[in-house]
Parts: sequence; structure tokens; C-alpha cells
Amino acid sequence: MNKVAWRYDRISRYYDIFQSLIERVLFSRWRAMLWRYPRGDILEVGVGTGKNIPYYPKVKRLIAIDISEGMLEGAKRKIQMGDGSPILMKADIMNLPFKDESFDCVVSTFVFCSVPDPIKGLEEVYRVLKSIGKMYLLEHVLSENRLIRLWEEVHNPITSRLFGFNVNRDTRRNLKVSGFKVTLDKKMAMKDVFRFFVVQKLRKAQ
Ligand SMILES: C[S@@+](CC[C@H](N)C(=O)[O-])C[C@H]1O[C@@H](n2cnc3c(N)ncnc32)[C@H](O)[C@@H]1O
Repeated sequence: MNKVAWRYDRISRYYDIFQSLIERVLFSRWRAMLWRYPRGDILEVGVGTGKNIPYYPKVKRLIAIDISEGMLEGAKRKIQMGDGSPILMKADIMNLPFKDESFDCVVSTFVFCSVPDPIKGLEEVYRVLKSIGKMYLLEHVLSENRLIRLWEEVHNPITSRLFGFNVNRDTRRNLKVSGFKVTLDKKMAMKDVFRFFVVQKLRKAQ
């Protein structure tokens, strides 16, 4: 079994409880802000237990994927509670089961910290995004502040082994390496750790 799926299956029942405080204080506000933007055909990658579902806009096609069945069960329950109408699918971000250029927007919130090969995952998002499409991300990333960075590097072996997420991912750099142009990079909290990114595909030279 996939290691990430196994880790998230294991914590899926308690995930919403673990996250409840930070969700109430910070994340819920940020989710409401992010979801004002995506329109058209939307893909959410790493939907988890469906914390974004209450904020989904009413659109014709919204597909949400995750690799963990346990987390997807949580998302299913949120839909049953009456919010939104996405199609939920088990799939791997690093190998998306969609044709090239099939979505207007892709959303991910706190996901690329746990994808084993984040550049491969971002390249897949790049592939399935339309040429004029946009990707919206909320992420915690490697800080440029020396002390915070040191704290992140020291704690990473613990968070990655216990919970399956890395606190030292340089997601801004990974986005650029994967071919994206960063059009918005907003510092949200903890200096430059929590960030909101909006990115677009760089036009390839003809
Ligand atoms: C920290 S949780 C965030 C969940 C949700 N986006 C949120 O905002 O609460 C990360 C999620 O990414 C999923 N994930 C990690 N690697 C993945 C991959 N390669 N393919 C699909 N989902 C993945 C995990 O299963 C987990 O549900």
C-alpha cells in the first residue's frame, strides 16, 4: 500500500479534531478567501476530509481527488451533510487520470507538504490545467528567516515520520521548477511560513 495513503488513512478519523483549533482561528478564513476565485471546471487535489467543501462555488464540473480512502470517507460525509456537489475520486496527484488541459482551475490546500515527489505532482497539475488556467494554493513552506528555517529543518524528521507531512518544503521554488509563473505570493501567518499562491502556466516558447 502507498505509504502516504496508509499514513492518512490512519489519522483520517481524528484529522478534523486535530485541526479544529487552527481551522477555527485561521484556515476557515483563508479557505473562504481562496474560494472566491476559482471558476469554470475545477479540480481540487488532496481534498482530504473535505474541509473546502462548504466553500465550493456552484459550477458545472468540480472533481476532488485524494489518495487516502480514509480521508475521502470524511469528504463523503461532508457532502452527505448537504454541502456542494463534487465528484470524489481516489487518485494520485503524481499520476492524474485526466487529459491534458482539462481544467480551468486547480486548488490545493496544505497538500504539497505530503506529496512524496512534489515537483512530479505539480507537473501533473500543469499538464491538466488549461493554458489560461490558474492554480490556487494554501501551503506552509520553508521560511527565509534563519531561525524559523532551522526549527523547520530540525522538526521535519518528526512530522514526516509521524504524520506524513514535511515542514521544510520550498514550494515557491518547486512551483517555478514545474513551469509555473507565481502571480501572487501572499504571506498569511508565522512570518513567511503560511502562504497563499496564485500561479499560471508560463507560455512555452513556440
Ligand atoms: C494535510 S492533508 C490536507 C487536506 C485538505 N486539503 C485540507 O485542506 O484539509 C493532505 C492531503 O493530501 C493527500 N495527498 C498526499 N499525497 C497525495 C497524492 N500523491 N495524491 C493524492 N492525494 C495526496 C493526503 O491523503 C491528505 O488527504
